[in-house]
Amino acid sequence: MAILPHGGKLINRYEPDYPTNHIQKEVELDATSLSDLELIGIGAYSPITGFLTEKDYLSVVNDLRLADGAVWSIPIVLPVQEKTARTLTTGDEVKLTFDGETYGVIEVQDVYRPDIKHEAQQVYQTTDVEHPGVKKILERPSYYIGGPVKLVKRPKKDRFNEYRLDPAETRKEFEERGWKTIVGFQTRNPVHRAHEYIQKTALETVDGLFLNPLVGETKSDDIPADVRMESYEILLKNYYPRDRVFLAVFPAAMRYAGPREAIFHAMVRKNFGCTHFIVGRDHAGVGNYYGTYDAQKIFSRFTSEELGITPMFFEHSFYCTKCEGMASSKTCPHDKEYHVILSGTKVRELLRNGELPPAEFSRKEVVEVLIKGLREKKTAKA
Ligand code: ADX
Repeated sequence: MAILPHGGKLINRYEPDYPTNHIQKEVELDATSLSDLELIGIGAYSPITGFLTEKDYLSVVNDLRLADGAVWSIPIVLPVQEKTARTLTTGDEVKLTFDGETYGVIEVQDVYRPDIKHEAQQVYQTTDVEHPGVKKILERPSYYIGGPVKLVKRPKKDRFNEYRLDPAETRKEFEERGWKTIVGFQTRNPVHRAHEYIQKTALETVDGLFLNPLVGETKSDDIPADVRMESYEILLKNYYPRDRVFLAVFPAAMRYAGPREAIFHAMVRKNFGCTHFIVGRDHAGVGNYYGTYDAQKIFSRFTSEELGITPMFFEHSFYCTKCEGMASSKTCPHDKEYHVILSGTKVRELLRNGELPPAEFSRKEVVEVLIKGLREKKTAKA
């Protein structure tokens, strides 16, 4: 039997025929809330059925749980301007729009003013405005509204349409493939050799790998999703057994909340049907805000029953020129000088300048796609 979704039941709030013409009040979404609306609607955020009310919000912020006790680590909120908040009352139905189109409806249960500094400290462990997640929540409007939603229209599809699958669809896909154990892999980066190593090491013990790159909003210096997608395709084609890997996108915004986001990422992948989830070095981290293995340690705060998905932890991995292969401190006895380690910033810098990172760091085919993709973006911008 397939793994149960978080909370026991896959939520479905997609109601394309729900009439919205009669609804007068309207809230304009930003890109993050639009993606959250869709993810709630398709059950990726099960058991959540709407944007968080204050009670759930405070419980998530302070205790990493929804008010009913279910593990949940990232507040899924709908920020609105103060002047909009003043026009809304409990019980209102409000259209959720983006670029003039209606994508959903919220039944307002709550309008509240969050303590953003407190949220930042709790969720991101810092109030530093240089932190991209903190910066974002500080820039968003200062009131939140909570209540159940209906998704009435799916956001625009792009050329990666074939990789946009709902949890019900990925679950079906895994079942058809006969996979009983599936490991989920979150990434906002190209798949470099270290990623490949931990994925394949995990794959040695489970039936399938669900490569699930995040393609929602990321910070501006991360590699754009469309360029990354091509790099995943070419990597899978050349280096992975076709019948052991399944690629689909995760359209959420990146929060850069490190440990808290690792829990969130795991819960969502459980909803997509994964039984296992990879957490490596500094998962969902940025700069030096989190310790290298904090995103692993946080899992020990919960019982395995509460989590319902098994995390697979990996040490910092690298290519060792003495071992002549990929390794980690757990498997390699050699000094640092033999290890090929490049920071994310360094790699992006090389790629943007059209320079190849070493083959020990990244597959040639991947690098070629990345350099070409980034060059085309640059030319398009100029
Ligand atoms: S993330 O923000 O999406 O977590 P990234 O795409 O770099 O960033 O990482 C994807 C996954 O691979 C995360 O679980 C991360 O911890 C892990 N990871 C990345 N690089 C390494 C590495 N060199 N060694 C071990 N794990 C790694």
